[in-house]
Amino acid sequence: MKYSLKKGTTITRMLCTGILFFLKLAVAGSLCAQVVTVPLQTAANALVLQTNEFKNLSIIYFGKKLHDVQEYGLAPQVYRQTSDYSGMLNSAYTSAGSRNLMEPAITVTHADGNNSLDLQYINHTIKQENENVTLYTFTLRDPVYDFSVDLFYKVYYRQDVIEQWSVIRHQEKGNVLLHKYASANLYLKSDAFWLRQYHGDWAREMKPEEARVTHGIKTLDSKLGTRANLFQPSVFMISMHQPATENEGTVLFGALEYSGNFRTDIELDYQNNLRIVSGINNYASTYTLKKGEEFVTPGFLYTLSHQGKGYASRQLQDWARQYKILDGNGDRLTLLNNWEATYFDFNEEKLKALLKDTRKLGVDLFLLDDGWFGQKYPRNSDHTALGDWQENKTKLPNGISALVKEAAGNQVKFGIWIEPEMVSPKSELYEKHPTWVVKQPARPEYYFRNQLVLDLSNSEVQDFVVGAVDQLFTSNPSLAYIKWDCNSVIYNAHSLTLKNQSHFYIEYVRGLYNVLKRIRSKYPTVPMMLCSGGGGRVDYAALQYFTEFWPSDNTDPLERIFMQWEYSYFFPAIATGSHVTDWGKQPIKFKVDVAMMGKLGFDIVVSHLAEKELQFCQQAIRDYEQWKKVIWQGDQYRLANPAEGDVASVAYISRDKSAGIVFSYLVSNRYAAGSALPIRLNGLKSDSRYRLREINLYPGTSSPIDSTKTYSGDFLMTVGFNPEVNAGRSSVVLTVEEVK
Ligand code: DGJ
Repeated sequence: MKYSLKKGTTITRMLCTGILFFLKLAVAGSLCAQVVTVPLQTAANALVLQTNEFKNLSIIYFGKKLHDVQEYGLAPQVYRQTSDYSGMLNSAYTSAGSRNLMEPAITVTHADGNNSLDLQYINHTIKQENENVTLYTFTLRDPVYDFSVDLFYKVYYRQDVIEQWSVIRHQEKGNVLLHKYASANLYLKSDAFWLRQYHGDWAREMKPEEARVTHGIKTLDSKLGTRANLFQPSVFMISMHQPATENEGTVLFGALEYSGNFRTDIELDYQNNLRIVSGINNYASTYTLKKGEEFVTPGFLYTLSHQGKGYASRQLQDWARQYKILDGNGDRLTLLNNWEATYFDFNEEKLKALLKDTRKLGVDLFLLDDGWFGQKYPRNSDHTALGDWQENKTKLPNGISALVKEAAGNQVKFGIWIEPEMVSPKSELYEKHPTWVVKQPARPEYYFRNQLVLDLSNSEVQDFVVGAVDQLFTSNPSLAYIKWDCNSVIYNAHSLTLKNQSHFYIEYVRGLYNVLKRIRSKYPTVPMMLCSGGGGRVDYAALQYFTEFWPSDNTDPLERIFMQWEYSYFFPAIATGSHVTDWGKQPIKFKVDVAMMGKLGFDIVVSHLAEKELQFCQQAIRDYEQWKKVIWQGDQYRLANPAEGDVASVAYISRDKSAGIVFSYLVSNRYAAGSALPIRLNGLKSDSRYRLREINLYPGTSSPIDSTKTYSGDFLMTVGFNPEVNAGRSSVVLTVEEVK
């Protein structure tokens, strides 16, 4: 007998009789010896949860969706691995202290001092939020202690994405200590696994490393508090069977949606299966949970692809635009930033000239960076004034409002930089509120970029930060953009007001989200850039409040080709700030071409551009206007990997496959380096015909690409095209348009 089940169906089987029947109710009650099987299905995959003889919830299958849902239950039978001595190796949320022998998802000390936990399935609910999104909630409870965990799985069907988190609570007679409290626990089966992880530092963000996973635990984590991704972002990939390529292989992308300390344990167990436990880092963070209080963990996000990394990234980018990034399907402003053009050395007159340049260049907005504030201690270097968010009257005698007006006069918008979480030791704020900073009272202060972090676990400090941002908007209602920076990690993690210091790291992040929520409730749409001394903070919890992020202060376009290649697996172009600056020795065309692969901006002295350079930039900005929707909202295909050859090539194809834009670059300066072989396109319609046209041509040059010829999608995807990249044509931008 064949059963075809719709999304959200539960299979319940009585262990004693073996009779299968389906429970179509939203809530499945607990029956003593019943096995409950719940397949969480997406367009391509199924994550199948099942209760076992101990009533623990386990993962019995995570992989390609089967035609017959009934067969998921057969999956465990075909493995002949060694014994599971605990009966919980594949736990959906591994509790410590009872039968568990592996890395737990949750570890507690109960009110009576006992350290054991056994989470048993009670029931589950299935709530279809809309045609694409279903929320599954599983309630687990300890049979001995009045302690429970709800596991949430938010399933995005079309995107093959699942967001998973847990809510922990109890009704014990006193407080319970949470020593570990993961968001999610996954269990993968394969003959081999490869981990692709990232590391970095300032100006060296998103450096990939890939290696076969060996037995034991590999932990990806951060203990930096703020700027938490500086050395390690929380995003990673796990390839199964063999390292996934761009278009082939099974690969899981994972990321924690959290802007503070995170921890992901990747454990290859003795049976050769992979256990993934991800959540807030419990480092120095034992949490005291009061009776009746709920501890809500952040979301752990994953997508599983059977068509390589490229497909996984397109699914994730689509999900991010639809469901996470603020205004992910909306518009963005191109901009001119003054950071590298002036650093701290500017005054009203200089800025007025830059405002004129903004208009001349043809971008939408001028962004005033660091250095505009501080009265008692003017911000003329990075040693002073953070926290003193009043204009420096020497530099700006007529204040920000005069600049906002001047911008309007030039028909451009005005945006401003702020670093609201920070304070300079030399500032009026620190003098007035020495207890508002993160510091150890009995130890010397220690600085990162000469500054301290404000204690956002303190609600008074939260009010101050909200007030500082609000003040900017209330005094300049037409302020159109905020760059929110965060240049310091947390040293001497200690709050001078918090009762329980073990809660500090968590309360800091809660305070930050509280601040962002309040700002967003008053200013829901104003674009904000998430910046953190370069790319030190980017995750999908923060991106709910931000329209874009700053990947790195390293804007050398060659570096950006590599860096944005990696970032783009996890974050779409619309959110990826990409500016033309003086970094790198490449010609302006190369710089602009690279910056166009993200959210375009400039940070140059426009008046230093030669006539032709300016002309080129102006035309490129006009072309960008025309193509930005395809870059931002289209599907990204990585065609030629800069790490593997002379040429890098990346395409963005509109969702209806009628138009695309392809960026190709020379990434080697070896003799005769260039596009010797054609580059195969992707994402087109095989039987449509397309015309290739070169844009972003430098004035006075012509293109060898014949734009009168047409090619079938089949040809372009099977044989390919040659952008004719070589030392004389180090970057080439081609448009691909369907000919009807
Ligand atoms: C770090 C940022 O990444 C830069 O873009 C710039 O805004 C500086 N901070 C300003 O201090």
